[in-house]
Amino acid sequence: MPMKVQIHKLFDYLLETTAQTPEAIVGFSLSTSPQLGDFLGDLDPNLSLDWNQRSFRGLPALRDHILTQAGLTGICSADDVLVTAGAAEANYLVLRQLLQPGDRLVTDTPGWPQAAVLGRAQQADVVAVPRDEADDWRLPLDRLRDAVTPGTKLVFLTNPNNPTGRMMDASALVEAVDIARAAGAWLLVDEVYAGLEWEGPRAPSVAGLYERGITTGSVSKALGLQGLRTGWLICRDPSLVMDALILRENSSEIMNIMGEVIAEIALRPTRLASALATARAEGQAGLARMDAFVRATPGLTWIRPQAGLIGLAHLPDGLDGEVFARALLAPPYRTFLLPGAAYDLPHHIRLGVGGGADTQLQLGLDRLAACLKDMT
Ligand SMILES: Cc1ncc(COP(=O)(O)O)c(C=O)c1O
Repeated sequence: MPMKVQIHKLFDYLLETTAQTPEAIVGFSLSTSPQLGDFLGDLDPNLSLDWNQRSFRGLPALRDHILTQAGLTGICSADDVLVTAGAAEANYLVLRQLLQPGDRLVTDTPGWPQAAVLGRAQQADVVAVPRDEADDWRLPLDRLRDAVTPGTKLVFLTNPNNPTGRMMDASALVEAVDIARAAGAWLLVDEVYAGLEWEGPRAPSVAGLYERGITTGSVSKALGLQGLRTGWLICRDPSLVMDALILRENSSEIMNIMGEVIAEIALRPTRLASALATARAEGQAGLARMDAFVRATPGLTWIRPQAGLIGLAHLPDGLDGEVFARALLAPPYRTFLLPGAAYDLPHHIRLGVGGGADTQLQLGLDRLAACLKDMT
């Protein structure tokens, strides 16, 4: 019997706090967002805002750029790419089309809650593989191997991981592929945070490693273009892409033309390289500042993220993350961050350095320190 999709703590907290007007934010996951004016020189004023006669899979040039940035040119074809309304829609289309009641879905925790939320709605058997802070939030491949029993339908991972910023490198990914293949499972790797790796190269995209590998991503995070609602899925299995296309026809139906056009400009290789260089410089500086802050703040510890702009910090013993996040959001601190409860971790908070100058990061850190002092 179909079930309603239930709210998750992460969204519940965002919904509840969105009407507040914080003066600072210390949890942002996006690079500084460009403005529309940054693209005007490359936009065609005569572009028709009709959509007829366009490809249901997305603009061909955009799909080419998507393959190029993922290192999949020559490995996957443009027909293996479906442009979607963000990585969120790409994940949705896959989870909704693949999972039947009773199917086994294996995902990591802490991780991106979308898989478990939709898996439960599909009445799948959702199995979470825990990552340990003591092991620097590494994905434990031995636990993954135990969890992915024969007949498992889907393994859903994020790489880099949200919320820890932990990365799986090429050899770990190859091992994950072996585990999935042995069980006959699909392997979806959401790489929405790719492009901001701090300690090594970008990891390979799973669509190139495995015929049942599904890569999802978007322009939302490293490029700060979340509002375009433009992402993708890549898979070499034509039936998987077709199933996603069929469901998309019955949800958002077609693409948002402005999203496609601006994303195509943003992903042109030269422009992408320079946007990523800027985002990386800002991200490095922000993370250095955050790391220094955590080290200098009594009782606070974290595992510095290997990629992306967010990480998890452990609060002093006895302090509840949600109680702390709510106190920090209220006057006089008026600073927003996500409590670890959004990831089933009650003693953590999610710290982030994205969002650019508007987030008032230094002000937020000063207030975080003051609030912590008051509460401990
Ligand atoms: C792991 C992960 N996947 C997907 C999304 C959704 O991203 P998009 O804006 O591309 O839909 C997010 C956004 O926070 C995310 O963290």
